[in-house]
Amino acid sequence: MMRSEELIKKLEHEHSLSEPEYSELIRLRDEETAALLKDRAAKIRSSVFGDRIFIRGLIEISSNCRNNCLYCGIRRDNGNAERYRLTEEEILACADEGYELGFRTFVLQGGEDPFFTDKVLCSIVSKIKEKHTDCAVTLSMGERSRESYQSLFDAGTDRYLLRHETADPLHYSMLHPYEMSFDNRMKCLSDLKEIGYQAGCGFMVGSPFQTEDTLAKDLKFIETFRPDMCGIGPFIPHHDTPFGNEKPGTVELTLFLLSVIRLILPDVLLPATTALGTIDPAGREKGILSGANVVMPNLSPAAVRKKYELYDNKICTGEESAQCLKCLEERIKQTGYRLVTDRGDSPRMIKKSGNRRK
Ligand code: SAM
Ligand code: FES
Repeated sequence: MMRSEELIKKLEHEHSLSEPEYSELIRLRDEETAALLKDRAAKIRSSVFGDRIFIRGLIEISSNCRNNCLYCGIRRDNGNAERYRLTEEEILACADEGYELGFRTFVLQGGEDPFFTDKVLCSIVSKIKEKHTDCAVTLSMGERSRESYQSLFDAGTDRYLLRHETADPLHYSMLHPYEMSFDNRMKCLSDLKEIGYQAGCGFMVGSPFQTEDTLAKDLKFIETFRPDMCGIGPFIPHHDTPFGNEKPGTVELTLFLLSVIRLILPDVLLPATTALGTIDPAGREKGILSGANVVMPNLSPAAVRKKYELYDNKICTGEESAQCLKCLEERIKQTGYRLVTDRGDSPRMIKKSGNRRK
C-alpha cells in the first residue's frame, strides 16, 4: 500500500494523525490520493448526515472594524473601504425575510465594531429569537471578553464562529499586527466552548507564509479542540491590503483539507464557503462533494453587499436574497444532495444537551 493510502486509512479509523503525519499527507498528495480521500470523506459525511446540506442565512451587519489584520479588506487602515452599519430594524428585517425564505439559522457577522456593545447585540439576538422561536442565531463578531460572550449566550445566541486563522503562533504574528495576540484568540475559543456555545474555528487556505507544517498544526488543533463548526476557505488577496500582491490559495488544497477535516471530525458542520465559490465558479459544489455539508447564502440588503469586501471579486454581491437561495438550491441539487431548512444543530451538541433552547 502507498504511504498516503496508509495515512488515509489510519485517519479514517482513528480520526487522528501525528503532526508529522499530517504534514506528510499534505506533502505527498496527488490526484489519486485526493480522489481516495474525497471518496472516504463523502461516505463518512453521508453516514452521519445522509444527503442533507444545511443552509445558514448570512447577514453582514457592519464593515467597520477596529482591527488591522493584514489580509482583510475591511481592516482599519484601508481608507478606501466603504463603511456601513445596519440598524437593528434592518437586521431584524433581513431575518424576517430570511425566515419567509425558509432559513432557520441566521449568522450575524461583522468587523469588530465598537458600536455593537453587549447591550445592542443582546437586544438584536433576543428579538430575533423571540420572534422566530424555531431559529438558531450564530454570531461572528470577533474577539470579546468572556463576560461579553456569556451575556450574548444568555441572550439566546446558540453558536459563535471565530476562526483561529492559524494554530502556529509565529505564523499568527505574520498575519496580524503587533497588538493582536494569538493567546487571546485561543482564550476566546476556549471561553466560547466552556460557556456552552456550539463553537466554530477555522483558517484560510494558502494564506501568506503558510506551510505544510503550519497546516499540520491547524489540523492537530482542530482534532483536539473539536469544534462543532469549522470554516475554511481559500485566502484571496484584497488589492488595498498589505497582502494585495500575494498569491491566492488554491481550490485543490482547499478541497483536500475539507476532506481531511471531515475524516478527523465526522459530525462537524463544515461550510463550502463563499471564498471557495469566488476562486472557482463551481467551488461550492466541489466543496460539498469533498465533504462539506453547509452553505451560507447572503441575506444582507443588496445595497450594502459590495461594501463588505473582505477580498477581491466576491460573488453574490449583486443578487437579492431570494435569487441567491434559488441559485444555491439548483447548484446543490446538481451534486445529488438536498438543502434542508431545519436549524442544523451540531449532532454532538444535540446529544450532549438535548438541544439547549428551541
Ligand atoms: N470580525 C469577525 C472575526 O474576526 O471573526 C468576523 C469577520 S472576519 C472578516 C471573517 C473571516 O474572513 C476571517 O476570519 C478571515 O478568515 C476571513 N477573511 C478575511 N480576509 C480574507 C481574505 N482576504 N481572503 C479570504 N478570507 C478572508
Ligand atoms: Fe448567491 Fe448563487 S449563491 S448568487
